[in-house]
Amino acid sequence: MRRLAVLGHPVAHSRSPAMHNAALDALGMAGEWRYEAIDVAPEGFEERVRAMPGEGFVGANVTVPHKEAALRLADTASPVADAIGAANTLGFEAGAVQADNTDAGGLIRALPGRVRGRRALVLGAGGAARAAIWALAAEHAVVDVVDVWNRTSSRAEEVALQLGGAPIEAPRLSSYGLVVNATSVGLHGENPFEELLPLAEGRLDSEQVVVDLVYGDKPTRLIEAAEAAGAHTVDGIEVLVQQGALSFEIWTGRKPPLDTMRSAARL
Ligand code: ATR
Repeated sequence: MRRLAVLGHPVAHSRSPAMHNAALDALGMAGEWRYEAIDVAPEGFEERVRAMPGEGFVGANVTVPHKEAALRLADTASPVADAIGAANTLGFEAGAVQADNTDAGGLIRALPGRVRGRRALVLGAGGAARAAIWALAAEHAVVDVVDVWNRTSSRAEEVALQLGGAPIEAPRLSSYGLVVNATSVGLHGENPFEELLPLAEGRLDSEQVVVDLVYGDKPTRLIEAAEAAGAHTVDGIEVLVQQGALSFEIWTGRKPPLDTMRSAARL
């Protein structure tokens, strides 16, 4: 059996096992490959990863709170994982650990073509924001401008400087064609229109593309409001599916069926 897994803490809520196992099944690979969820606390993370190649694991996804640790312990890292400072995908070959990051590429694939050449506003300065800023500004340069707003402005300055965006203290929402929520606001029911100043003070409109990296069992308030305003929306599950598909290709060398992954992730 070739084994795959997602490592997180907590991880029980993860959609990744259902999504990847559905893809393996659809490609007739389910007899040989299996994807599981492994809950591991930070103290045990490195030891757990080091044991995986010997247990038949070919690779793993890594999620909160282990993405930075995953990059640190890897023997080799892709340029994108290095630039972002975090890994969401590990591969094990000949006992060595290779780190990659498909969060950035997943976001790019989830975006509609019309964001090209627009001004983008990224909300947040944590790990999710780093991948988004790098994806939009550094590598793909799909947009003209990437402004970064964060509740703690010093963090926005730091990550923008590192990754090719520009920090902004009081962005005017209507001047952006792309708005990405890369904060954790909304994850536990918080209202982004109260917690995030640019959203509280501005208005969304039908010309905009709005991405919420937060996802749950139902559409987030931000996605609902953006839809009501007539904006093009991309939710966190679509980004999850796209990053998962890229990881799947890294491990198996095969392109997974996106629709199969989508319906499994949305169940
Ligand atoms: P992740 O790696 O998931 O991005 P993180 O590094 O903890 O997680 O970052 C969380 C992000 O959400 C940060 O940008 C944080 O803002 P601060 O840097 O000011 O803490 C943002 N965030 C979380 N709760 C928030 C809230 N209630 N209002 C505004 N921003 C919030």
